[in-house]
Amino acid sequence: MLTLLELLKDGRFHSGQALGGALGVSRSAVWKQLQQLESDLGLSIHKVRGRGYQLAVPLMLLNSVDIREQSKDCPWTVLVFDSIDSTNAEALRSIELGAQAPFLVLAERQMAGRGRRGRKWVSPFAENLYYSLVLRVDGGMRQLEGLSLVVGLAVMQTLRQFGIVGVGLKWPNDVLVGPKKIAGILLELVGDPADVCHIVLGVGINVNMQKTDEVDQQWTSMRLESGLQVDRNQLVARLNMMLKAYLARHQLQGFASIQEEWEQNHLWQGRAVSLVAGVNKIDGIVMGIDQQGALRLKVDGIESVYSGGELSLRLRDDS
Ligand code: BTN
Repeated sequence: MLTLLELLKDGRFHSGQALGGALGVSRSAVWKQLQQLESDLGLSIHKVRGRGYQLAVPLMLLNSVDIREQSKDCPWTVLVFDSIDSTNAEALRSIELGAQAPFLVLAERQMAGRGRRGRKWVSPFAENLYYSLVLRVDGGMRQLEGLSLVVGLAVMQTLRQFGIVGVGLKWPNDVLVGPKKIAGILLELVGDPADVCHIVLGVGINVNMQKTDEVDQQWTSMRLESGLQVDRNQLVARLNMMLKAYLARHQLQGFASIQEEWEQNHLWQGRAVSLVAGVNKIDGIVMGIDQQGALRLKVDGIESVYSGGELSLRLRDDS
């Protein structure tokens, strides 16, 4: 099926006969496959008598060779899936099967993309980036301190390289443009965090998506912000290099060396917020983060620190 897509991705017209010839199947088999592409992947295909078939929008598909070429300092194995439940889930399965880290799992779409706090991550075909980098950590807990915040910073800097203006961070690891989410990060860990473990750095970036009814919060994409279509292979390569640099700094100097830079890019610094954990809510003022990446919140005049995967921040109406 993807072979047919490979033939069509240039956005030009291809006759049924030419497509059938290239794939070694009949014209009616081509027709069936085209219908499948439309229904399975949600793609729109023009069918014009006498000219053939053309994708309504040309596609740039992910390509592991291209990515390796463009990020030569990151010699990680790159696995690209056409369709998968979740790149994080696939990464965890590969770890179980003994795959050697570091390695990278990418997909054109996710059928069960997962976000923080049990939410789903909307993952249409060939539009966005679904990226899971697997690392082996054997330096103990210190190597994990503030790690998800470091990933957020690397994603933010990568987006700036692509000319996205006004991009910043929201604790713990949302990447926003103003009030709109452009990227999210989900870290998952297996093994013993105090000894040897594997960590999956899951990154979702809204890249070329221009509309969807499925996202239940304010969102934007690189395309909507810049007006330009983004080459996702180039994006992966730049993210690889940025992450590699930040991870090396984190490993050598610890999160304390990154804390200030993170705070400078925190869009909600000094804002009046509610910290939400399930049905519980604490109102306070954001003071910043500590040397482990925990949130410093002033509540009734007293500063306290908060951390945990289930926590999230909301702006208060009076801020
Ligand atoms: C969030 O809720 O903000 C985190 C979203 C993380 C989404 C990414 S997409 C790649 C990886 N695979 C997943 O299933 N989730 C993460």
